[in-house]
Amino acid sequence: MVFAIAEAFAPATVANLGVGFDILGLAVEGAGDTVLVEKRSEPGAVILSIEGDEGRIPYDADRNVASIAANAVLKQIQAEEGVGIILKKGLPIGSGLGSSAASSVAAAVAVNALFGEPLKRHELLGACLEGEAAVSGYHADNVAPALLGGITLTTGTGLSDIQRLPVPDTLRLVLVSPAVEVSTAAARRVLPADVSLKLMVHQTGAVARLVDAIYRGDVVAMARAMGDDHVIEAARAKLMPYLHEAREAAIQAGALTLVISGAGPTLCAVLNSSDAETSVAQALEDVYTQHKMACVVRKTGVAVDGARVLQTN
Ligand code: HSE
Repeated sequence: MVFAIAEAFAPATVANLGVGFDILGLAVEGAGDTVLVEKRSEPGAVILSIEGDEGRIPYDADRNVASIAANAVLKQIQAEEGVGIILKKGLPIGSGLGSSAASSVAAAVAVNALFGEPLKRHELLGACLEGEAAVSGYHADNVAPALLGGITLTTGTGLSDIQRLPVPDTLRLVLVSPAVEVSTAAARRVLPADVSLKLMVHQTGAVARLVDAIYRGDVVAMARAMGDDHVIEAARAKLMPYLHEAREAAIQAGALTLVISGAGPTLCAVLNSSDAETSVAQALEDVYTQHKMACVVRKTGVAVDGARVLQTN
């Protein structure tokens, strides 16, 4: 069955999970982007309107991640018709919450729904990555969890490179997004081109411990491994306002650790229950308030289901 319109939502994501640079990520409950597509007789994707971006996202179909992902799906399914896109941004740009991945994924899922779901969910990964690559680089640690939900391990860009990991029952997160922007490109430029063998052994050990802890549902060990990154945070810390202060405050208030979410500046505190959620959220807000910097705090958990179709008609 084909439709005249379809609408899809894709969640925010936390990439890297500390040590798992470019390979680990999780989908977050609550916030995300929504894309509505309507069928057009002309081939290809055009952007009809963009809401919630304060006029910052390009309408040019070759530069907009939603239309790039939509065009990739249209090509994949060999559609003769095209789509008009209404992009509703729920996520701030350059915040470390997988904003471009959410737009790409919501667009790909909406186009697939419009044409009666010719592709399985995981078959949309390549199209989502094309969108993401336009602004963030060719890595799937945000698009995979936004598309599939849960916690994902992505070691390449093919379908067989994605593993869904179990979500520990007691895992809770508090995210704080200070009102500054850090582009992924800028946050990648500060990274070292090479690391020593000693650091490589340390980092791979921490990733291995993290994956093991996730499988065992051991959030304490998970947090310990997440926070054991000696490569990425060391290079990026200077771009994240009050990172060390925020970590100390979050841990004092009951969090197990705090890591940079994706390329930042959002920070992600990790908790083993919802008991301390409110005090961690308050402690993080206080850090930025004391420095007269606005911030948004979100108490959340892992969204197990990822992107979803909201309507077809
Ligand atoms: N893994 C990416 C990074 C996520 O940290 O640069 C941001 O897109």
